Amino acid sequence: MYKILKAEKLAANIYLMDVEAPRVARHCEPGQFVIVKMDEKGERIPLTICDFDREAGIVTIVFQPVGASTTKMTELKAGDAFRDFTGPLGCASEFVTEDIETLKNKKFLFVGGGVGAAPIYPQVKWMKEHGIDVDVIIGSKTKDLLILEEEMKAVSGNYYPCTDDGSYGHAGMVTSMIDELVEKGNKYDVCVAIGPMIMMKFACLTTKKHGIPTIVSMNPIMVDGTGMCGACRVIVGDEVKFACVDGPEFDGHLVDFDTAMKRQQMYKTAEGRAMLKLQEGDTHHGGCGHCGGDE
Ligand code: FAD
Ligand code: FES
Ligand code: MG
Repeated sequence: MYKILKAEKLAANIYLMDVEAPRVARHCEPGQFVIVKMDEKGERIPLTICDFDREAGIVTIVFQPVGASTTKMTELKAGDAFRDFTGPLGCASEFVTEDIETLKNKKFLFVGGGVGAAPIYPQVKWMKEHGIDVDVIIGSKTKDLLILEEEMKAVSGNYYPCTDDGSYGHAGMVTSMIDELVEKGNKYDVCVAIGPMIMMKFACLTTKKHGIPTIVSMNPIMVDGTGMCGACRVIVGDEVKFACVDGPEFDGHLVDFDTAMKRQQMYKTAEGRAMLKLQEGDTHHGGCGHCGGDE
């Protein structure tokens, strides 16, 4: 069992939990994720690692309730425990293995949308810990939905909050903030954009226009998280990749977002899941409880 040490509501629909998971905390790196299960029969829920403390053996997750399982998760409190907390899964962000001196000569721009601020955080923190100042844009619909602000400010070089309704920071979407920074003369070698699929798609169109190579973190339906079931397929360039083992981070200028978004939409209905099965063969499509993918 994996004990929840802290359970906190960060914003109207966003929750944070500190979980006692010493083995995951010891081995994880920015960019990786875990798969949690609340109980024996529970769905497998993939969640990005938002922070970790190797010494204390704690991993932080941040999540948004979107369906039955994540809504049930909001009822858990400090002292409760997860049945499973599997990880670290997926590949670490590429920069973690790059030469530090080479990295110091690159200018990074991190862009987080909504709950995407959570996976951005450990990456920006890693940069700070290695003496690299980066620019950070965090967008949300309105001021009350901006999360981890103080934490993010503490590790960012320059921090640019944006709200769609103009209630705080830059008025407008993260894409217009990217345009503004570039138009002001900032030059970026790499952009890392994480958030809802639609936000990553448009962030990539914007960075492509400015010629900035861009990494995105994909969150397709995942079942086993170990490359066995094929549920998490993503088209990158002319290749089919499995996000759980080849990713979750990919070259955003090569990702086929339209197919990825269509796949996610189809998953929402039983008919759509049957169609995915017909099109892609006898693979599982994500903890629907009927296909046996959780077993
Ligand atoms: P459902 O009602 O079952 O589904 C609602 C929607 O959630 C679906 O349409 C689909 O888009 C998505 N979803 C459902 N099941 C899965 C599944 N097995 N795998 C992936 N997506 C699914 N969410 C966060 O709030 N915070 C995170 O840090 C985070 N990190 C993620 C990292 C990865 C690598 C992946 C793949 C997903 C991540 N997600 C994250 C999304 C999260 O896993 C889903 O929101 C959650 O599984 C939904 O479960 P549900 O049963 O409540 O919703
Ligand atoms: Fe990636 Fe099964 S979740 S192959
Ligand atoms: Mg579900």
